[in-house]
Amino acid sequence: MSYDFSGKVALVTGSSRGIGAGIIQALNAGGARCIVNFVADPQGRNEEDARKVAETLQDPLVIECNVGEASQVEAMMRRIAEECGGLDILVNNAGILRDRTIKKMTTEEWESVLRVNLTGTFHCIQQAQPFLRPEGRIVSLASVSGQLGLFGQANYAASKAGIIALTKVTAREFARQRITVNAIAPGFIQTEMTRDLPEEVVKKALADVPLGHFGEIADVVNTALFLCSQDARYITGQVLNVNGGFFM
Ligand code: NAI
Repeated sequence: MSYDFSGKVALVTGSSRGIGAGIIQALNAGGARCIVNFVADPQGRNEEDARKVAETLQDPLVIECNVGEASQVEAMMRRIAEECGGLDILVNNAGILRDRTIKKMTTEEWESVLRVNLTGTFHCIQQAQPFLRPEGRIVSLASVSGQLGLFGQANYAASKAGIIALTKVTAREFARQRITVNAIAPGFIQTEMTRDLPEEVVKKALADVPLGHFGEIADVVNTALFLCSQDARYITGQVLNVNGGFFM
């Protein structure tokens, strides 16, 4: 299925690799003007990744911004408005994991995940609002963990459950501008995030997935494209599960 995003401006947070890179490339292939966002890291790896993604795009804008910092998000949105004239599609994809049992989890581990995943999504929605054009789209990456509460993921699961609630509130508040707001809840998808899972965990996880295998980046990308498209105009406040039947 190919969609027409020509004339649209699209931002995908954390689009220097993984699912985010896949979504930004697909939106660009559909004709959208695209903004690649990365967060700076000491090794400069994310910037390098972002440049590589940008090389595959037509007329991209690359912006460094830590979504957990409100002032940086505000500056990013202003720059997008100045250079692109507004925003039509916001995909809140940036996310981190810091797994640990509740017994051992530090407050820093709890807060850092909440800050990037949930507060970061809130910052982006809030700061994008003045520049989002009517009939815009917001899609946020939740997770099956936010629905099932997976072991060792108190911080991550809480952040993703929060994203689901935030999606519903935003859908109500932005409906007047005919902006739709939805979440995608992937199960296990083959990316860097899941690459280092211990074999035992993978085996156990797959036993609970009726389709019997991990999903691919393309499975999430195709869902995001649909939700961003005109075809999904009457869908808002929903969570689309892309999980091989893990949670149903
Ligand atoms: P990934 O780790 O490959 O990519 C995450 C991206 O977010 C990276 O580019 C990273 O640099 C960026 N990022 C991290 N902190 C940031 C910050 N403060 N500001 C801006 N960018 C930041 O992960 P993946 O697998 O591509 O995941 C993408 C989204 O999908 C995440 O929100 C994740 O929680 C969610 N997800 C992934 C699943 C999986 O199995 N891979 C399952 C369910 C949800």
